[in-house]
Amino acid sequence: MRIAFVSLALLLFSTSIAAAESCPAFKASTMVVTGIDPVHWRTDYPRNFPNPRDDQPWESIKFRNEPTKYMQAVLDTARPFFKNTDGRLTGTGSEPWWISEWLDYGTSGREALMGLTKERGPKAGDLSETSTDGAQVWAVGFYNTSGAAVFGEIFAEPCNPSLPVNLKFPDDTASIKFLFTDASTDEVPYLKDAPVYNALIDPLGSSSQSLPVGQRTKRPLRLLQVDIAVKDSRSFETGWVFGTFVWRGPPKGDQLFDNLVPVSLQWGNDPGVYDDQSIKQSWVNADLNGVTFGWAKRPSMGFMGRANGPADNVRSSCLSCHSAARSPRASIGLLGSSFNMEHLDDTQAVKRHVDIWFQNIKSGQLFQPTEPAAATLDYSLQLEAAAFRVCSACEAGDLTGPTPSICRSTGFYNRPKCSSSDTATPVKRLLQSMAPPRQ
Ligand code: HEC
Repeated sequence: MRIAFVSLALLLFSTSIAAAESCPAFKASTMVVTGIDPVHWRTDYPRNFPNPRDDQPWESIKFRNEPTKYMQAVLDTARPFFKNTDGRLTGTGSEPWWISEWLDYGTSGREALMGLTKERGPKAGDLSETSTDGAQVWAVGFYNTSGAAVFGEIFAEPCNPSLPVNLKFPDDTASIKFLFTDASTDEVPYLKDAPVYNALIDPLGSSSQSLPVGQRTKRPLRLLQVDIAVKDSRSFETGWVFGTFVWRGPPKGDQLFDNLVPVSLQWGNDPGVYDDQSIKQSWVNADLNGVTFGWAKRPSMGFMGRANGPADNVRSSCLSCHSAARSPRASIGLLGSSFNMEHLDDTQAVKRHVDIWFQNIKSGQLFQPTEPAAATLDYSLQLEAAAFRVCSACEAGDLTGPTPSICRSTGFYNRPKCSSSDTATPVKRLLQSMAPPRQ
């Protein structure tokens, strides 16, 4: 059944529109919109793992000493494969980059034109000194061959994804994520004259709100940020190196990769560091002081000088949020959003925040171990979101048939079969109020 389906997809595009096509028992994909030709990113995951001894262009560069060179080497592995074609981010069709299944569900589910999911809406002062509340951020993330081979195992049965207890990505895994915003260029000066992309997003001013998918309309967005994540054994702190670029005008070259300026790189969370003078496991680009950080609401990119991007919450850092990847998510969530940034001089409050949120967690180690989980996810928050959405769809009756085993192992939904839609009203209401995943 699956083989037949995969070969059909190969015949057509060698791409699919995610769970919408690969799991026929799923009928509520946010990528299926009347009158829209949906984007086709690859989900025909590689069957074999590449040799971990293969040389990667970033491996000859010491990320601690030459962070920008390292970041550029990673970015260059994506560069030949992504373009802006008529206001849409597109691949070549055979790009060695794959998206995750099962992100095309719910109020933040993939939109049809570029496959973007809705992210946290930045707060006033996040994107620039003058930015106000209300902007939306939408994003699409990909994994390279090594990472996508892991997805191949997880989604071998698309209607019944399976997660190992300790998921581990192999060395050489890289992920890239493009983040777009509808923030006004008057408020965010570095985005002036940036090329426009069009996607089916929520109405102006809706920020992080969860709105019914039917309210989405085609609206302009600009590329804001590009994130990278690399599994690199030289990061003995966490096993990962995370970094981000910002799109900074004036436009030049291809106006996509040529405008990306490195913002920050991080290989550890600096556990036990409670001031912003002693951060050693992040690099932040000082040239962007006054551009992407350096004002009262955003004194640094991430918490106390750690790495983060303009779209991200200043109370957090790349590795902080991602180290909380597990299924199910811990009850305290992905970040301590209640920390009051006006209390940075309250040493006890800072210590409490750092001790919970800024640990160096290794792959296979569980965040919040006092709360059991069915799986650790090795920093992949897409997989966390995918597992949550597949089970939400099952509970709401938008996925029919036998309950996926991960929904039972995570305690999400214990009945043998997914609910039929007539019993699903309360859950549907819950889904409507589901906040976008990146807080
Ligand atoms: C507050 C939490 C949070 C912070 C901070 C954060 N991320 Fe993420 N990130 C997410 C979530 C949630 C997803 C998955 C959902 C999605 O892509 O829509 C994600 C997805 C990604 C992905 C795609 C692969 C994956 O893990 O699923 C990459 C790469 C990534 N982030 C890199 C970064 C980098 C680099 C930074 C810092 C500059 C960063 N992130 C900061 C929450 C966060």
